[in-house]
Amino acid sequence: MKLTGYTDPMSVRAGDTVRFMVSSELPKYKAEIVRLIHGDPNPKGPGTKFERIKASVNKEYKGRVQEIRGGSYVQVPANPLLDFAQGFTIQMWIRPTTPKKGEQGIVTSGSTRLVVDKDGQVALKLGGKVAVRSGLALGEHEWYFVAASWDAKSGAAKVYLYPDRWLEPHTGSTVEKKIIPKPSFENGKPLLVAAALEKGEVTAHYNGKIENPRLFNRALSDSEVESLHSGASLTAFADSLVAAWDFAIGSSTQRATDTSSNMLHGTVMNMPLRASTGHNWTGDEYKFDRAPEQYGAIHFHDDDIDDARWDADFEWAVPKGTRSGFYAAYITSGKEHDFIPFFVRPKVGEASAPIAYLAPTNTYLAYGNEHIPGITTEWLPNAKLDLHQEERKYVIANGLNSMYDHHRDGSGVAYATRKVPIPNIRPDYVSPPRGGPHCLAADLYLIDWMEKKGFEYDVFIDEDLHLDGPELLAPYKVLVTGSHPEYWSGPMLDAVEAYLANGGRLMYLGGNGFYWVTSFDKERPHVIEIRRWGGTESWKAEPGGYYHSTTGELGGVWRNRNRAPQKLTGVGFTAQGFDQNQAYKRQPGSFDKRAKFIFEGVDKDENVGDFDSLVLNWGAAGDEIDRYDSALGTPPHTLLLASSFDHTDAYLLVIEDAGINMPGLGGSTHPMVHADMTYMETPKGGGVFSVGSISWMGSLSYNGYDNNVSRVTENVLRRFQSQEPLPNK
Ligand SMILES: [Fe+2]
Repeated sequence: MKLTGYTDPMSVRAGDTVRFMVSSELPKYKAEIVRLIHGDPNPKGPGTKFERIKASVNKEYKGRVQEIRGGSYVQVPANPLLDFAQGFTIQMWIRPTTPKKGEQGIVTSGSTRLVVDKDGQVALKLGGKVAVRSGLALGEHEWYFVAASWDAKSGAAKVYLYPDRWLEPHTGSTVEKKIIPKPSFENGKPLLVAAALEKGEVTAHYNGKIENPRLFNRALSDSEVESLHSGASLTAFADSLVAAWDFAIGSSTQRATDTSSNMLHGTVMNMPLRASTGHNWTGDEYKFDRAPEQYGAIHFHDDDIDDARWDADFEWAVPKGTRSGFYAAYITSGKEHDFIPFFVRPKVGEASAPIAYLAPTNTYLAYGNEHIPGITTEWLPNAKLDLHQEERKYVIANGLNSMYDHHRDGSGVAYATRKVPIPNIRPDYVSPPRGGPHCLAADLYLIDWMEKKGFEYDVFIDEDLHLDGPELLAPYKVLVTGSHPEYWSGPMLDAVEAYLANGGRLMYLGGNGFYWVTSFDKERPHVIEIRRWGGTESWKAEPGGYYHSTTGELGGVWRNRNRAPQKLTGVGFTAQGFDQNQAYKRQPGSFDKRAKFIFEGVDKDENVGDFDSLVLNWGAAGDEIDRYDSALGTPPHTLLLASSFDHTDAYLLVIEDAGINMPGLGGSTHPMVHADMTYMETPKGGGVFSVGSISWMGSLSYNGYDNNVSRVTENVLRRFQSQEPLPNK
């Protein structure tokens, strides 16, 4: 992939400025601002459509490569107190996850380095040379007490390494060597935790946990080190303590707090996992702020990143009067192209249309840079796994991850950022396992359809709703979701609930929505956080890791926080499968007088979405699908309008309902494996219509937009955007 980039911000008001960060291996490229209408290149559909926008930035630019430098660490600025030449002791607990990956910095400053060496041993390097090694290699995922010292007078260098548990055949090691002549020490260098600085570049990134490092200005005696191992208080070391970083303090910040009187505070770079359990976690307390002494660890990864920090190539002051919508900088050079998406949003309180379309950008970030797994095509007849290999290579080579992936050390990815290139969130991107669009490209189906049908709409993104709250929604007659609005912050849910309580109307035109508890980092709203547990999930947060570091709230699925999606929309996640969709069969609720307007023009025996689709080839109900369930909170007056049927065994019941994995959880047998379409009225004339299927929008354009998925959507949207009250009898 020779040409790519990202914007900041992701959503911008007319009158504001959006910056474009581009990396180009080609010497020149052309940029053009376009408004996106339809992206899917599938010849069965309307094809790629965008509108060229006259803009001052539409011109040729000089290309230059901008690199992605991931890997988290703590950096403490250089300080005269960091003087190793007079002797020192470094001490902390570590839990390495890839001890064999090559040299990794634990605590380093210039050429004085405590590292995991290439053999997985703890080594103290002085003046760039190995002075002493532990003699014992580290095991993966095991906690160790580590200390290292150097005594200026005797020249003795020591490394102490004690496993946390009784491990045969080794119980630990203390290795000593005399270093003569005295090694040279550099002053004026910053101190790094979990990495090292080499010619100005941060390198030797460490994978795993490091807990509360301490630094002393002399070589402690063996018995003093042993007392630290036993958990002695630091007050006995007041005369020699240089720094004692407590990583439990400020878990939601980028600060590493030194609790010593020297206040050698550090900056935590590239968003490692904070609020992590330490070696002493008893398992009794899951909430990190109630037992901070047991959450003193940071889990560092060599592929963490919160911001690529690229320079801007150009910026566009969005002219006043620019209509709201999905936009992109379309950049081209020879055969190479990329669309760098962004959104033009309305100002708070200034709706330009009755319809608000919420682009589910948290879902885009969660799936963004997904590594396409090497799955078989047995259950994926539509898969095009050979597609987008260039993008895949770029993502993996640069250590970019989605929130579905694992870090290189095998732990789950809990944070995502919009300040990196995301090549799979593009209008023309075909998701290889699905063989069709997903996320942004799929959400453009509705834009194209609304344009075709003459609906007027504004667009804003999850981050806008999170920050602006109910005032953003207040002026709209109807809020329409994207195809997969899966990741919701508490304030976003609050805003929609307040909107509905006040007569707002919601069309949930997707599947598996309102599912994961998602937080925005307060200092960096471009970063979101999740902790996967309790749902259908590609990784699991480790025990003790269920609370979000950025907000302190309990993560997992909203269902476990008394906010099951059924309460809000009538339906919630029930099954997923990726072979093909099915049609919906009308249920008695669709013949209720209250629902008459929804099925206007649809025959009583007609199945809905019983035809070709641009997503998973055929049918309107599929991918991730939702069910009506009063036990989970579907309100009693909700009408069950239609249900899909005959799903294959590629569709399996969600883990949270399966309980025990056993045969019979597939679509051919399990009664809960189907998508439900529902409708309910809400207070003050509001209403909610839900389809419970990611694939719904892929059917809208079939047969020149003349089909019953299009008709039902149009019937509801016309009624919801009108002043006309909803029928209540
Ligand atoms: Fe999903």
